[in-house]
Amino acid sequence: MDGRDLVRSVKAVGSAGAAQGLRTVLAAWRRRRADAAGLPVRGAERARVPGPVLAVEPGPGGGVVRFTRSELRITVTVNGAVYWGWDGARPEPSYALDGRAPEPDPRAVLEPDKDGAWRVVAERLTVVVSRHGAVEVRTPGGVTLRRDLPPRWWEPAGGGEARWMQRSEVAADARFFGLGGRASGPRLRDGTYRLWNTDPGHAFGPGDDPLYITMPVQMVVADAATHLVFHDSTWDGSVILREGEEGAGSGHDRAGTSELRMDGGPLRCWVLVGTPARVLHTWASLTGAAALPPVWALGHHHARWGFGDEQEVRRIVGGYHERGLPLDAVHLDIDHFDAHQVFTVDRDRFPKLPVLAEELRRDGIRLVSIVDPAIKAAPGNAVYDSGTAEDAFVRDSAGPVARGVVWPGEAVYPDFTRARVRQWWGGLYEERLSQGFAGFWHDMNEPVSFTAFGESTLPRSARHDLEGRGGDHREAHNVYALGMARAGYQGLRELTPQERPFLFSRSGWAGMQRYGGTWSGDVATGWPGLRASLSLVLGLGLCGVPYSGPDVGGYDGSPSPELYLRWFQLGAYLPLFRTHASIRAGRREPWEFGDEVLDHARVALVERRRLLPYFMTLAHLARRTGAPYVRPMWWGAPEDRALRDCEDAFLLGDCLLVAPVLDPGADRRAVQLPRGRWYDTVTEEAYEGPGQVLVDAPLSRIPVLARAGAVLPVRGRDGGLELEVWAPAPGRTGGGLVVADSGEGWEELEIERYVTRWEGKRVVVERDGEDGPDEPSLPVRVRGLGAW
Ligand code: GLC
Repeated sequence: MDGRDLVRSVKAVGSAGAAQGLRTVLAAWRRRRADAAGLPVRGAERARVPGPVLAVEPGPGGGVVRFTRSELRITVTVNGAVYWGWDGARPEPSYALDGRAPEPDPRAVLEPDKDGAWRVVAERLTVVVSRHGAVEVRTPGGVTLRRDLPPRWWEPAGGGEARWMQRSEVAADARFFGLGGRASGPRLRDGTYRLWNTDPGHAFGPGDDPLYITMPVQMVVADAATHLVFHDSTWDGSVILREGEEGAGSGHDRAGTSELRMDGGPLRCWVLVGTPARVLHTWASLTGAAALPPVWALGHHHARWGFGDEQEVRRIVGGYHERGLPLDAVHLDIDHFDAHQVFTVDRDRFPKLPVLAEELRRDGIRLVSIVDPAIKAAPGNAVYDSGTAEDAFVRDSAGPVARGVVWPGEAVYPDFTRARVRQWWGGLYEERLSQGFAGFWHDMNEPVSFTAFGESTLPRSARHDLEGRGGDHREAHNVYALGMARAGYQGLRELTPQERPFLFSRSGWAGMQRYGGTWSGDVATGWPGLRASLSLVLGLGLCGVPYSGPDVGGYDGSPSPELYLRWFQLGAYLPLFRTHASIRAGRREPWEFGDEVLDHARVALVERRRLLPYFMTLAHLARRTGAPYVRPMWWGAPEDRALRDCEDAFLLGDCLLVAPVLDPGADRRAVQLPRGRWYDTVTEEAYEGPGQVLVDAPLSRIPVLARAGAVLPVRGRDGGLELEVWAPAPGRTGGGLVVADSGEGWEELEIERYVTRWEGKRVVVERDGEDGPDEPSLPVRVRGLGAW
């Protein structure tokens, strides 16, 4: 136990009682003992590289290249992606893929290249395999996007899982993004990024890494093209990134490098090339469409650990109403459970939960329940008993059910890598639905076991089903939450087939968007935490997870009124807009920070409500195209270097640019504009991009700019749908997409296209239909005319 561990265990003792503290010490010892007995001893290792090429075997979409000590299978698929796997690795089975891998593209063939190399030429890229197994991805124009050096394996002499390493070079100008949710991004600077889902155990800031969601997904943005690379192995590993350096015309560029070191799993990857939009579209076609949130989930949520009882919930909701503040959801944390046991209710403090839920629902407010995976190990607890009967729990390598420690004390963990267990777990949501809950907040699913020292998770040797293949926690850890989300989502689909499940999860992995979204986790209250919140949302969006948002105000402590307000103003433009805090933190209601903050927070809430139809449209577009709602500034112009390095603003869909205030004391800020004209949405002042401009950012608002020509759906004063149109630049046209969705169901809605242009001194808007342009049936409001 080192000093930090000691502090941790003392904290655990202090915060949750001496008994719990003692349990965490025992859990840590148990974990250590289990791994000492249950993990293979590594012993001596043999290093291996592929060696020289021996033969090739063309096949559909590419083929197999045989080397003396390995073989490489390359397949270009019909969606334009390229897959390659070493040592016989196939794309399946995979936790990331949504169903089966796409079909090979029959037009792509393996053919000889120069110097004994082989290549596969496809529509969007060329892959060249050198004689010794380096793999290069080139644009159709011949520019190299990445060069993967021959991989290296270390095989335990006594057999078992091989570690491997893959070093890659990218263009000197390339920037790295992604790797799941990282607090220090969105641009991932030089450093080591671990791939092991981790609860940091305290409120985190930009220096904390890894966090709850890690993914071996990198988005690499360079002048020549953008590409996404996904290494489909769920094992622990790390990525060491080093940005390149350009030799300022000297011809001596230093390539950027990315080195991936994995403790196991297949060495296989997917590479997708194109524009950012195209790359994410292809990524969504591989890993699945993002779950569509019900419209209320795009409104404002208020959460807190420690509401305490029904009266307090009513008081908070009343506070929102009295002050004219829109509210769409209230979240109940673990304190509403009976002794912290999931799928139970503390009947003393929440005696009539279904009545409360019904009352709230009449006011348009939904109740959301936290759901933790770990179940109190106590006979008599109905979930424990039924899980035991199902043989649902993760076991130690020696056989008994593995135990950890979470909020309820000694706990057991469902094995979500087993289909039958997922089915059982999905059925448990019936109890939640009967209490009146409409949405679900998955937590502690990295999974966490409080340990006084060592890693706060299950033993690595713990056994998992892994869909019948069998394996241990080293392989299952990173996909534990993904399986839990799948189980919850499927359960809800069966229990309430008419409704869209609403679920968001703290941990997850590639493909988690199929089941819902996520949130920041316990982001530290402070200005660095505010910045980290935006980094997480942007990074996750680039990994295909479009719906997320922070704990507005930060998880711990008490934000200053200014920090709270700036966080609130940012949150109002992020997909999940939720205030939340720890039981030990100060208040987070908008009226707790003085009248000025209250007034400005109200403006943000009212504006969010006005923009709901736009958010709903973005949700549909995310589902259909893979484009996140919140996009980095370089989204439409990755070749613009200044935009590539801009991390303090973002695009919200195609129409808006949001420039949050991330520093104290600011009343204006610099904004790096993409090409074109942009209007300040409050003053209607027009700015010209590309380039940097200074815009006003008084305490009352953060700068939000609209693209000239944008058409966006908003909620009119009467609650109906309206089109907000921003005048195109002179001589230019514009447009926008609208999905008019006000419900919760599954109906496939049409994407309406609107176009706008100048006709003399008038801006006209038309709906683009199959029979040509048509008058829009929605009321239209043209803005930005004063600027001309
Ligand atoms: C975890 C969650 C946090 C929640 C708390 C109690 O720390 O991240 O949001 O409030 O557990 O359930």
